[in-house]
Amino acid sequence: MIRVDLRSDTVSHPSPEMRKAMYEAELGDDVYGDDPTTNLLEERAAEMLGKEAAVIVSSGTQSNLVALLAQAGRGDTILLGTKSHILNAEAGGASALGGIVYMPIQTDDRGTMDPTAIGLAAAPRDHHKAPVTVLCVENTQNMAGGTALAPEEIKVMADAGRQYGLRVHMDGARIFNAAVALETPASELAAEADSIGFCLSKGLACPVGSVLCGDADFIMEARRWRKMLGGSMRQVGVIAAAGVVALESMIDRMADDHANARKLATALAEMPGIDIDLATVETNIVRFGVPAHKGNEIAGRLKEEGVLINGGDSDLRFVPHYGIDSEDIDIAINAMDKVMAEVAG
Ligand SMILES: Cc1ncc(COP(=O)(O)O)c(C=O)c1O
Repeated sequence: MIRVDLRSDTVSHPSPEMRKAMYEAELGDDVYGDDPTTNLLEERAAEMLGKEAAVIVSSGTQSNLVALLAQAGRGDTILLGTKSHILNAEAGGASALGGIVYMPIQTDDRGTMDPTAIGLAAAPRDHHKAPVTVLCVENTQNMAGGTALAPEEIKVMADAGRQYGLRVHMDGARIFNAAVALETPASELAAEADSIGFCLSKGLACPVGSVLCGDADFIMEARRWRKMLGGSMRQVGVIAAAGVVALESMIDRMADDHANARKLATALAEMPGIDIDLATVETNIVRFGVPAHKGNEIAGRLKEEGVLINGGDSDLRFVPHYGIDSEDIDIAINAMDKVMAEVAG
C-alpha cells in the first residue's frame, strides 16, 4: 500500500475549501470573457505578480509555450538555461510548433546563468545568426534543487539580455515557493519579467491550471496563441475557483512544505550512499545523488515500503506538498534508512 507520495507537488489534491468553491463557482463562457470566476482569478493573479493582465492556461508547459510563441517568431532564438524545464522537459514545443531556436546557456549549481555568456549569446552579428529575442529564466529552479533566485540575481541576468533588447520570460511555476522562502513579494521577483507563468497545480494544490501574466498587449497576444493551441476553455471557472482559494490560503502554508523538505534533506545527508548539497534545499524540492545506476532499484524498493519517489538512474527527488505532514516525512526517512542500508550500507 502506498502511504506517502513524494514524487512531486503535482500529486497534491485540492483542499475541501477548494472543492466547495469549485462546486459553487459562478460560471460563464470564458471564450466570450463571460466567466466571472476566471476573470476574478486573472485579476488577482495579475495584481499579485505586479502585471497589468493575466490569462488562465491548462498547464505550466502551456504557459511557457504560449509565452514563447507570443514573443518570439519563427527563426528567432531564445536563450534558456541548461537546467531549465523548458529545455529539458517540455517536449521541445516552441521549437516544434513555433520554429524557435533554443540556445542553452550553462546554468550553475544555483540555477543562474553567467551574464557574460548571456551577453555573448544575445549580441547581434551578421546575417549568419538567427536574431535572439527572448531570455528565459526559471524561479524556483526545479533541476537545481528548487533554489529560490533573489531579485538581484534575476536582475543581473535580465540586464545582460536587455542590453540587446531581449524580452524576459520567467517560468515561475513555483514562484510563490520562492516568495515564501525569500520573504519577498512575488511581484518583486517578477519585476524584471515581461511575462511570467505560475502553476496552480503544484504547491498551490489546485487540480489543474496555470496563469500567465504580463502587460495588456502581451496578454491579448497570448490569448490568440492559446486559442491556436486549442487551449481556450469554456466554463473554466470550475478550475479558476480553486485558484482563487489557493491564492488566499495556500501560499503561507508552503513554509510547512519547505520545513518538511529541510527535515528530510537533513536526515538524508546522514545516510550512506547519499550525495546531497543541503545549501540547495531552499524550498520544497529535495534532490540528491545515489550510487551510480542504483536510482531505479532504490525507487522500486521504496515503493515496496509504501513510499513513492521520482527516480532517475543515479539521482532522485522528493517533493513535500499539501497533504504531507511531519509524520509522513518520518515514514519516508525510515524507509530510506532501510533501503539505503541494503543498497549502500
Ligand atoms: C519549473 C517548471 N516549469 C514548468 C513545468 C510544467 O508544468 P506542467 O506539468 O503543469 O506542464 C514544471 C513541471 O513540473 C516545472 O517544474
